[in-house]
Amino acid sequence: MTLDLEAKKVLLRKIPHGLFICGVREGDEINGFTASWVTQGSFEPPLVVMAVRAEGSSHGIIERTSRFSLNVLRSDQKDLAAVFFKPQTALGGRFESAPYSLGTLGLPLLDNAIGGVECEVIGKVSSGDHSVFVGEVKSAKLIEDKESLDLASTGWSYGG
Ligand SMILES: Cc1cc2nc3c(=O)[nH]c(=O)nc-3n(C[C@H](O)[C@H](O)[C@H](O)COP(=O)(O)O)c2cc1C
Repeated sequence: MTLDLEAKKVLLRKIPHGLFICGVREGDEINGFTASWVTQGSFEPPLVVMAVRAEGSSHGIIERTSRFSLNVLRSDQKDLAAVFFKPQTALGGRFESAPYSLGTLGLPLLDNAIGGVECEVIGKVSSGDHSVFVGEVKSAKLIEDKESLDLASTGWSYGG
């Protein structure tokens, strides 16, 4: 059976996505990147599922620390999402554009966003160019409940 690559691309790009800043920390080093492949995985316990590019700098940090945060951006924060997917001069440099505090798990939570959650990794599937991490939500900080940024509104695509 041959996979119709064009059909696969069109169809997978129909999956709706939000846009988040994933935060990681290992010792004194912090990092963050824009993530769209994120969804909820369970009510109880509260689980989220996120796919992380295997070659990215944050992947190894999540593997080694078994933790990550997810910051939920407001609909007017497209520019910040762009900062967090572009190359940076040094690990964590993207946070110069975005003040943050450390949450109860010690992970970066943006001061200016809808809010963020901190997760402990409870499962992982590694097959292909991204690893799928399942995280249990251990802390949640709501700053202001506003409309969130979604991928469709940006004109960008990540998927297919
Ligand atoms: C719209 C958009 C969505 C993205 N979504 C993801 C994602 O869900 N997972 C991921 O690992 N990378 C995603 N990326 C790519 C990362 O943001 C990018 O590779 C980043 O440089 C990784 O940073 P790091 O190497 O410092 O970890 C996305 C990029 C764009 C433009």
